[in-house]
Parts: sequence; C-alpha cells; structure tokens
Amino acid sequence: MTMLERSSLATRHLLQIRDLTASEILRLLRTASHMRGDLKPFAGALAQRSLVLLFEKPSLRTRVSFEAGFQRLGGGVIFLDHTASRIGERESVEDTARNLSRWVDAVVIRCVSHGLLTRFSAVSDVPVINALSDLHHPCQALADLAALSAHGIDPSQANLAWVGDGNNVCHSLIEAVATLGGRLQVITPKTCRPSDEVLQVAAARAFRSGATITCTDDLTAVEGVDAIYTDVWVSMGEGGDPAAKMESLRPYQVNAALMDCAGPQALFMHCLPAHRGEEVTTDILDGPRSITLDQAEFRMHVQNALLLSLLRPDIVHTKQI
Ligand code: CP
Ligand code: NVA
Repeated sequence: MTMLERSSLATRHLLQIRDLTASEILRLLRTASHMRGDLKPFAGALAQRSLVLLFEKPSLRTRVSFEAGFQRLGGGVIFLDHTASRIGERESVEDTARNLSRWVDAVVIRCVSHGLLTRFSAVSDVPVINALSDLHHPCQALADLAALSAHGIDPSQANLAWVGDGNNVCHSLIEAVATLGGRLQVITPKTCRPSDEVLQVAAARAFRSGATITCTDDLTAVEGVDAIYTDVWVSMGEGGDPAAKMESLRPYQVNAALMDCAGPQALFMHCLPAHRGEEVTTDILDGPRSITLDQAEFRMHVQNALLLSLLRPDIVHTKQI
C-alpha cells in the first residue's frame, strides 16, 4: 500500500521522494496544475484545519509558500521558530510530536539532521512533511518536476544535468528522476558526489522505471540536456572546510560557456536562494532560459496538492484528478 492510498489507520508522511510511487507523483503534479489554474473549486477545503511549521533553519520560499498556500485553502498556520533552540532541547522530540498530534492536522519540519524527521514521524499521529533536511528536500523536487512540465518537458522523460554539489536538493532530484524515468547526469567533483545510499535506492527504482542516473566529474556531460540545475556550493549548517569545498567547485560554475555547451534548448534551474557569481552567474540566473521563479511558484501549488491529498483525499477523488 502506498503513501497516499493508506487509510486513516496509518499516518502518512513525506520525508523523502522515495516515500511516493510514480503514479502518486504524477497525480500530485496533475492536482497542482489544476490548483494553479483555478483554486476556486478548492476554496475552504482545509477550513478548520491547522498546520504547524517547525523550522530549525532560515527560509523564505518554503515558509511563505506553505503559509500562503494553506491559508488560501482556508486553514490556519502556526510558525514555531527553532532557529535559536533546536527541536528536542526543551522536551524530547517524541514528546513534542505527541503533543502536536493532539492539536494540529499536519506538521512541516525544516531540520538540521534528517534523523530528527525519522524520530518525529515514528510517533506522530498526523502527517509529517520534510521542508528540507541535510539529506532531502522532497517538496522542492515536486515543484521542479511541475515547473519542467509547465515548460513542455514531460517529467517522466526529462533529460537533466545536475552541476555542482551532490547535496540534499540533488538527492531529491535523483530520487524523483529514478522514480519517474528519464535521464539525470550528476556532474560534481569526486569529493562532492551524492550519497551512496541515495544512489542505491535510485538504482533500484531506475531498474523499474527505466531511468538512467549517471555520476561523473566531466562537464561535457551537459551536452543536449533539457535543463541544467545547480544549487549553492555550501548548504545551510554544513560543517567541514567551506573555503576548500568552494575552491573544488569553482570549475563547476553555471555560466554562459556551460549553457552554450549544453545547447540552445537547455533551461536553467536553481532551487534558490542563489549566490550570484559563485555557482551561477547573474546573466544566466536572470536570463531568458532561467525557470527559477516558476520553480519557486510551483512550491505552493505542489505543497497544496500534497496537503489536500493527505488531509482531504475525498476532494481529490471527487474531482477525478
Ligand atoms: N528553495 C527553498 O527551499 O528556499 P528557502 O530556503 O527560502 O525556503
Ligand atoms: N542546499 C541548500 C538548499 C536551500 C534551499 C541548503 O540546504 O542550504
């Protein structure tokens, strides 16, 4: 039984893209597209519902897209700022989860360590949604697929290049492509490759979907792709030696020369926030091939579709999406 098909006897969570099947992802994308086109049929769908956002790291897009989206569907949102004191410091992670389950309908968590999501969701009676951890950013990947689709690229057949650091956003993109099909070239220095565990999960999924996921340090692998995707070279809260890491990533900047190497068809993607002049030059970020603001916009639509599927599956079913 898959995440969105389970009865209310089992609580459903989205901690990583691997929690979804291909058909569930495609259905979420269809619902998001409907909601983007006309939200009126869904007005009030989440009236009397409450959502808690529990964030240990800063955010613009994720916080505002969850808050604005949930409010547009009639619900109320409570933001709990844990950027100064980590979740679990005042009382245990499990006690926090059990208490919140008595008051609210879903909990959205942005955390330093993915392990916190695992602990929290293990005892939560209400759905837990990962709003970025050190390992995964599933809502971002759903928005990325939706933005590609809006630009005429079939998410199940997309031909993508990830360039830069093999980080949390990269992991979710790998799992998304592996689940749906298509092709992803992950182009990183050898020291910045994605996690072996994610690659193993992806390989098993790709076997079923027909996807091709390749890791290389060769930048010419961008030739012919539908889109080049990059992200910051040093993620929030990351340890290690940031200066050394940035030095190793300097050749992997997305600039006009790399976009030319990809070809005139190639779009540019970034989850934002961007560090102009580091992983991407301003001309590319602000240029006509950039779909970064569409990715940002779709955050709200895919998250609304997800919340509707989790909290009001009856509506998704009734509308035959
Ligand atoms: N892309 C994204 O998650 O942005 P924020 O960090 O601003 O939420
Ligand atoms: N990889 C980045 C993504 C920010 C949305 C980070 O984790 O900081």
